[in-house]
Amino acid sequence: MIELELAFVKICVRLATTSSVTYDTSTSSRMFRAMRLLLRAAGTASSGSCRLLSASSGSGRLAGKVAVITGAASGIGKATAAEFVRNGAKVVLADVQDDLGRAAAAELGVPDTACYARCDVTDEAQVAAAVDLAVARHGRLDVMFNNAGITGGTYAGGPIESLDMADFDRVMAVNLRGVAAGIKHAARAMVPRGQGCILCTSSTAGALGGSGPHAYSVSKTAVVGMVRSAAAELAGRGVRVNAISPYAIATAMGKRSVREIMGFSPVGAGAEEEEEVVRRVIEEDFNEMGCGVVLRAEDVARAAVFLASDDARYITGHNLMVDGGFSVGKTLNLPAR
Ligand SMILES: NC(=O)c1ccc[n+]([C@@H]2O[C@H](COP(=O)([O-])OP(=O)(O)OC[C@H]3O[C@@H](n4cnc5c(N)ncnc54)[C@H](O)[C@@H]3O)[C@@H](O)[C@H]2O)c1
Repeated sequence: MIELELAFVKICVRLATTSSVTYDTSTSSRMFRAMRLLLRAAGTASSGSCRLLSASSGSGRLAGKVAVITGAASGIGKATAAEFVRNGAKVVLADVQDDLGRAAAAELGVPDTACYARCDVTDEAQVAAAVDLAVARHGRLDVMFNNAGITGGTYAGGPIESLDMADFDRVMAVNLRGVAAGIKHAARAMVPRGQGCILCTSSTAGALGGSGPHAYSVSKTAVVGMVRSAAAELAGRGVRVNAISPYAIATAMGKRSVREIMGFSPVGAGAEEEEEVVRRVIEEDFNEMGCGVVLRAEDVARAAVFLASDDARYITGHNLMVDGGFSVGKTLNLPAR
């Protein structure tokens, strides 16, 4: 970037000294054209090493921000950690899958940029410790992404008369109580500085009944309630709180759920044909968006970058659907002719 700036200054000086007018509109438009060309060239040159450039130069939409992401060893959390680092943030990846979490952090660069912390979100002390770790390492917390989640017992579900109450409690403990603890401890770190952004992963299953098991669906609806309640209080103290609601994505959780719906044996045991069926169900049958656009974890990650960035500085209490229109309509049940 320094070379770029120098080149720009040189061009400006040349234009200014060769131009008959000191600084007229044609000079400035030539300057802007030159700058655009330089930036385009820089984009091409750095496309293969974008992460390196943003991480090392501190540029990007989240430049200098410090984030904790729960459920970051896999899927949406892992993709978001990568996107945050690409945008200049420092990230603490928190999860219960230690090996995967450490590997995900190691992939993202030096420990100062990304590190792993074991954090079971059902244990409030561990959530508090993850926040404290970020503050101790980097001096503050700017973004808390409460993303860890589980679907619980059986995705195919059963009649509500046979609702498994122990499973219900387990799902609530991770998906709702874990989020509540994340908001609580993030607020503890953010409110004294009068700034910060808290994100929480809900789901289309929280917006519409019937597209997930009861406990999961209820927990994700409650996440949106938790977000609104916290946002209402925290707005006046400078902290924003938003939810993101993705539709089906072929992450470990997404694939496990579809395997179950299809009656396949649990995760890992799948033959290639089964894996292909699972992929097709998620990416084609479930898919709402036409023209070959398939929802990926990276799409949610980019939504998180937007909400976490200063571009969203007046957005709070919002539930951003990342669902290709899944939740916006339902076709009429027409009578048979
Ligand atoms: N994949 C989808 O189709 C989909 C759709 C909508 C919402 N979501 C939500 O997105 C979030 C991320 O899920 P994903 O699809 O990336 O699945 P994933 O299974 O790839 O990732 C979930 C992560 O959460 C971690 N986790 C589970 N329990 C935890 C706990 N107690 N403490 C800390 N970490 C824990 C897991 O170890 C895992 O790494 C979840 O909240 C999920 O409900 C997923």
